Amino acid sequence: MRSIFSYFGKDIGIDLGTSNILIYMKGRGIVINEPAIAAINNKTNQVLAVGENAKNMLGRTPLHVSVIKPLVSGVISDFEMTQEVLRHLLKKANNSNSSLLNFPKVILSVPSNLTEVERKSVEEVAIASGGGKAYLVEEPIVAALGANLPIEEPTANVVVNIGGGTTEIAIISMGGTVVSKSLKIAGDNLNEEIIKFVKDEFKMIIGETTAENIKISIGSVISQGEKIEMSIRGRDVSSGLPKEAIIKGAQVRSSITKPIKIIVESVREVVEATPPELVGDMLRQGIHICGGGALLKGIDSLIAKETSIKTTIIEEPLTCVIRGIGSIVENYNKLEYILDDPLRPKEIIL
Ligand SMILES: Nc1ncnc2c1ncn2[C@@H]1O[C@H](COP(=O)(O)OP(=O)(O)OP(=O)(O)O)[C@@H](O)[C@H]1O
Ligand SMILES: [Mg+2]
Repeated sequence: MRSIFSYFGKDIGIDLGTSNILIYMKGRGIVINEPAIAAINNKTNQVLAVGENAKNMLGRTPLHVSVIKPLVSGVISDFEMTQEVLRHLLKKANNSNSSLLNFPKVILSVPSNLTEVERKSVEEVAIASGGGKAYLVEEPIVAALGANLPIEEPTANVVVNIGGGTTEIAIISMGGTVVSKSLKIAGDNLNEEIIKFVKDEFKMIIGETTAENIKISIGSVISQGEKIEMSIRGRDVSSGLPKEAIIKGAQVRSSITKPIKIIVESVREVVEATPPELVGDMLRQGIHICGGGALLKGIDSLIAKETSIKTTIIEEPLTCVIRGIGSIVENYNKLEYILDDPLRPKEIIL
């Protein structure tokens, strides 16, 4: 039987990202910001750690422990594990060990091109984790809201959200999406390219965490003028013995050229498909980038150069989606209209 206390739950919002899960609780703000990772015991299926604690185990576990990412390219790939991770994080947010979680409304952001089945799965995981009712909203719209852009006005709000698993480019006007494109190419692909480069160039195997550190420390998409480099450690491809090497900023930059080119060309495509009436607004307001990928050095200059439109990085780009979701949680009646409505005519999806 449910405890009476479970009925006093608060509305919450969740940014269920491929790399990071953030939770907003009504009246409290952002209560959780953790990697979307779980460590499990393969033999017993028991969850050993979740979030930051699990991320620290990446590449360091004995054979019977696996570290998994339950979301791939913004889509739930392992339902049970996503549920486990969410329940864990919600209990942490609630400061409770009780399994009686209850949240009347749960608002979740999803990439704009999910299939009906994929969307259902997001709703179901929210309900299985204690949600009374789940509401979905497109990620670029809440990103724009989180950035305080005038999304309800008839103007072009251009948002490029470069996450871990997806890049979403959208033009938003009057609370809806006019043109959008969603790519399954984002931050994680950059890490993969760095791993490949290090293997080819230095005959050395490095893990995902090292690749991400390299990207964050010395990665860039436009020459920063300085001569930056860092020392990296891994395993020799043939001997398997520990090995060290020095990787230069320019090498990292050239290793990630391919996915960066796809992202920038997609932004151009969306800009080119924008209805003529909105082009003037777009030139005036510029392009706004967010998501962890917005922190890659030079990405704003590169997009500005390739589109001839001024480009700015949204403040605190890693939390802008959850801040937008938080606005809906706090002002539900006023902002309800931007929630996904299956009956609304669809935008142009490139
Ligand atoms: N300083 C930085 N420079 C470059 N990349 C960064 C930086 N900080 C974080 N990232 C990258 O940003 C990505 C995570 O961003 P974010 O949290 O926005 O993704 P997500 O919302 O979990 O994923 P998605 O929206 O694709 O489902 C990771 O690939 C991470 O490596
Ligand atoms: Mg995201």
